[in-house]
Amino acid sequence: MRAAIRAIALAGIAAGAAIGAVSRPACAQETGEQLVEAARCNACHLMSEPLLGPPYIAIAARHAARREVMIDVLALRIVNGGGGNWGIVPMVPNQWVSLDDARVMAQWILNLSPAP
Ligand code: HEC
Repeated sequence: MRAAIRAIALAGIAAGAAIGAVSRPACAQETGEQLVEAARCNACHLMSEPLLGPPYIAIAARHAARREVMIDVLALRIVNGGGGNWGIVPMVPNQWVSLDDARVMAQWILNLSPAP
């Protein structure tokens, strides 16, 4: 009986993983904005006002000239945290955020600024 329950549970997990794997590319339209909201980045970042962290539009403006390079640099900073770029307060690591999601977030932030 126990084994059966376990088998059912495992099947459920496998099915969930399969659905996730299949639907991932399709719902890649889970936008950076939605990811940022879900990850509670807004506890420290607002769109245009400084909070604990710099506002998104200031980040976008600062890195606009090197947008392509900065997608990966910022994605790594989002996951690992970082400091010394904006002030004395460092950003905490967000290591439960996947690098893929962090790249989508970084891209969304960077696209808030028009191309130079
Ligand atoms: C606990 C507060 C806090 C949270 C939560 C937070 N940040 Fe930050 N973030 C900061 C601070 C402070 C800085 C400035 C760090 C510095 O001076 O280098 C920063 C900087 C950044 C930068 C700019 C890095 C640079 O070098 O220009 C980006 C991009 C960023 N955060 C994105 C995010 C995203 C996306 C999330 C959500 C996954 C997030 N942050 C969550 C506080 C936070």
